[in-house]
Amino acid sequence: MYINGETRVCGLMGNPIAHTLSPLIHNTLAERMGHNLVYVPYPVAEDKVKEAVQGAFALDVQGMNVTVPYKSAVMPYLESIDSLAAKIGAVNTLVRGSTGYKGYNTDMEGLYRAMRSEGIQIEGEDVLLLGAGGAARAVAFLCAEKGAKTVRILNRSVEKAKQLAAEVNQTLETDSVIGMALEEYQKLPQKRFLAIQSTSVGLHPHTERAVISEKSFYDRIHTGFDLIYKPERTQFMAYTEDSGGRAYNGLKMLLYQAVIAYELWNNITIPEEEIQLLTIRLKEACVTDEK
Ligand code: ATR
Repeated sequence: MYINGETRVCGLMGNPIAHTLSPLIHNTLAERMGHNLVYVPYPVAEDKVKEAVQGAFALDVQGMNVTVPYKSAVMPYLESIDSLAAKIGAVNTLVRGSTGYKGYNTDMEGLYRAMRSEGIQIEGEDVLLLGAGGAARAVAFLCAEKGAKTVRILNRSVEKAKQLAAEVNQTLETDSVIGMALEEYQKLPQKRFLAIQSTSVGLHPHTERAVISEKSFYDRIHTGFDLIYKPERTQFMAYTEDSGGRAYNGLKMLLYQAVIAYELWNNITIPEEEIQLLTIRLKEACVTDEK
């Protein structure tokens, strides 16, 4: 990497961010695409979100990613917000405009591209969504927006599932989203669903856990997509495969949300072969990290 007077800076704000893989993805992209651009992590204190956004703009930072816990907190300090991100109520990417940043949510489109790259369809599917937190929220909007036939949100706190379902239905003018308690899966029709695991259960270091462990649940899944990518094969994925389903982790979602952000910042399309190469590098980094 060669830094000179014309190097453009992009970065990530969040807290904590010490284990982020985003610098690896973006700096690899900059190197591969021959861009004079560097991507750096910015840990930001909870009471400094406004200063961070305005300070980044003042310092000519070209683009920012925003991660937990600031995806909603940054929104009041933006020049404008993409309509889909506004509906979700969360942004993860800031693109520089003339007087401030415009906020986008590339998590959602990232998940969509990751699923498509694995041949997974949302259109016309009956979806089971595990979880009703921040991550599940974007997934619920994605599934309803992309034409899932039904989206059943299953959550430990049933009220949160029902509230999220009502919000998505109202915003997107549909009635396809239903909130349920976790154990209510037993009442589901005897058929196979597309399941998306959006809770934090099973995340490293508690890798032996899954939000539901009964085989009768996994017998109802044809494809299981876990948003978690550490460990590489989660317990949810193992159960899904044991019951004959196909299972995927969240690494490609992480990759594609970054690729889309990079494309927005640089007004380009990243060629598919570069994405393949990045996938290999990311997998290597995850393996090293788990050791
Ligand atoms: P994130 O931003 O990663 O989505 P979050 O907003 O805190 O994080 O949401 C965490 C999700 O994991 C929620 O759906 C949560 O269920 P509750 O709404 O009932 O809290 C779910 N979750 C976390 N720990 C859980 C556990 N031990 N069992 C079941 N669900 C759990």
